[in-house]
Amino acid sequence: MTQQDDTYHIQVRSVCKNYEEHRVKALIDVSAFIKPGEFVALTGPSGCGKSTLLNIIAGIDKPGRGSVLIGDQEISRLNDKEVTELRRKKIGFVFQFFNLLNTLTVYENASLPLALARHLSSREIRTRTEEMLEQVGLTKRSSFYPSQLSGGEMQRVAIARALVHKPEVIVADEPTGNLDSENGEQVLRLFQTLCRNGRHTTVMATHSSDAANFADRTIRMRDGRILEEICT
Ligand SMILES: Nc1ncnc2c1ncn2[C@@H]1O[C@H](COP(=O)(O)OP(=O)(O)OP(=O)(O)O)[C@@H](O)[C@H]1O
Ligand SMILES: [Mg+2]
Repeated sequence: MTQQDDTYHIQVRSVCKNYEEHRVKALIDVSAFIKPGEFVALTGPSGCGKSTLLNIIAGIDKPGRGSVLIGDQEISRLNDKEVTELRRKKIGFVFQFFNLLNTLTVYENASLPLALARHLSSREIRTRTEEMLEQVGLTKRSSFYPSQLSGGEMQRVAIARALVHKPEVIVADEPTGNLDSENGEQVLRLFQTLCRNGRHTTVMATHSSDAANFADRTIRMRDGRILEEICT
C-alpha cells in the first residue's frame, strides 16, 4: 500500500544509498517533497550525491532504503518492466553530455520517445516533433547530425527529446555543465520557460548558483545529506 498525497508530485522518503564495496554512503536519509509544476534546483559540491538522487528519482537506480513516489506510484517498488514503462511515459531526462545518438538526425533524436510510444500515427509523431523543434529554435537543423551542431544546439535537441512526449516529470543533471556561460544561460532560460509552460515538475542538479536562480526552490546537499532548502 502506498499513501496517497496529492500535495506532492515527487516524494523522496528517507532514502539511503550505499556502495558497500567502496564503503561509500552516497545518500544518507534524504527526504524531499516536490509539488506539481515546481522547478527545484539541487546544488552542492562534487560527490555530494546529486546525480545519485536524480537517478533514483528517475528510476534509473534503486534506493538501498527508503522510497520514492511519483504521484501515487512507488517507483522504488516497481519491477524493471514497470519502471521502463513509467519512465517512457512520465519522465524526461536531460544529461550533461547531451547523450544524443550520433547516427540519428536532430529530428530522429527528438522524436525518439514518440516513436517508442507505439500508439501514435506517423503523422502525429511528425507534427509533435516539428512543434517541439520549433520551440527550441531548431527547425532549420532538423536534418543535421549531432556532430554538425554546437554544444548549445545539442542540448536544445536533448531538451526537445526530453519534453516531446510531455512527461509529467523532467530530471536534468547539470544541463548546462558543458556549455559556456552565454549558451548556458540561453539554454536555461528556454528550459525554464518550456518546463513552466508545460507544467512539468522539474528537478535539476547544478554546480552553478546562477543556474539555481532559475528554479523556484534550491535544495542544498553535502556529503549525501540535505543541508537546507531555499526558496528563490
Ligand atoms: N557506482 C558507484 N560506485 C561507487 N561509488 C559511487 C558510484 N556512483 C557514485 N558513487 C559515489 O557516490 C558519491 C555521490 O556521487 P554523485 O555522482 O551522486 O555525486 P554528484 O553530487 O552528482 O557529483 P558531481 O557534482 O561531481 O556530478 C560520490 O562519492 C561517488 O564517488
Ligand atoms: Mg553528478
